[in-house]
Amino acid sequence: MTRASTPAKINLIFEVGELDNSGYHGVNSLYLELDLREEIEIKPSLGTATLSVAGDLPARHLNAVPTDSSNLIFKVAHALCEKLGVELPAIEIELYKRIPVAGGMAGGSADAAAMLVAFNSYLHERFETKLLTTPELKELAATLGSDIPFLIEGGLQIGVGRGEKLTPLSPLTFETHWVVCVSSEGLSTPVVFAKFDELFHAEPFSDFSALKIAGLEDLAAVMSNDLEEAAIALLPAIAITKARLLELGAVRSMVSGSGPSVIGLFSSLEQAELARVSINNSGGFALVASASYAGTRLED
Ligand code: C5P
Repeated sequence: MTRASTPAKINLIFEVGELDNSGYHGVNSLYLELDLREEIEIKPSLGTATLSVAGDLPARHLNAVPTDSSNLIFKVAHALCEKLGVELPAIEIELYKRIPVAGGMAGGSADAAAMLVAFNSYLHERFETKLLTTPELKELAATLGSDIPFLIEGGLQIGVGRGEKLTPLSPLTFETHWVVCVSSEGLSTPVVFAKFDELFHAEPFSDFSALKIAGLEDLAAVMSNDLEEAAIALLPAIAITKARLLELGAVRSMVSGSGPSVIGLFSSLEQAELARVSINNSGGFALVASASYAGTRLED
């Protein structure tokens, strides 16, 4: 049995550039890891490769995860086997989810990152394949999804290109506590990017090298997301959630990535917990998370 876990991401800053010839937008992103962790376990089985899903999320999230070959986890499995020159073995994959589905927090990409790291180790141990290095895993990850390379090492990183060209930064010197408000409806990433193209012209990117984030107020001041208005145009209820988080004491609230999850930055865990309870008591669904710096790791 081999296990790995991967965190969620938020984009503290998300600048979107022009659509390129490959159908992607250049981005300039400041990624931060949050401690909502997905777990993958791989065991040998008989017959074919199978995937089962459980987790700490409402059933509609867990039910929305495909368990057939369309799941990115199987695409990772095939890509890794192809790279290592082996056939896909019969395995049982168990996925435990804590990251909202289709919420702009890279839940699917986190599953892919966990699978990459776990399956690399599994194949090496059982079939004596070459153990790919972290840079090799990140290179393969970039062919499978824009956020997967970040999630391999996590923490705080600048991402350019599609988000896969990464520069790690030192961890924030202060704790951050986040309330993540999960929408009852999902938003598709390509649809939100297309709405951005319809509504806006890309602006030149900022230079993050001079960025100083010494405390919560600095962080609140730099947070921005070019996709926010496009996401709100598609799902106006997002604006209500943003305002609600501020009413509940958030220093700043913002759409996460392509949405529709909205993140609120709080100055204490206690305040974040109170906000979470208040949102959940009024029929919403919110989670509390903190910044973390662990990346994807093998578990015992
Ligand atoms: O890379 P990922 O699979 O997450 O991207 C999903 C879709 O989102 C892409 O096919 C593309 O349409 C859009 N996208 C984009 N620019 C990016 C990342 C994603 O247009 N930088």
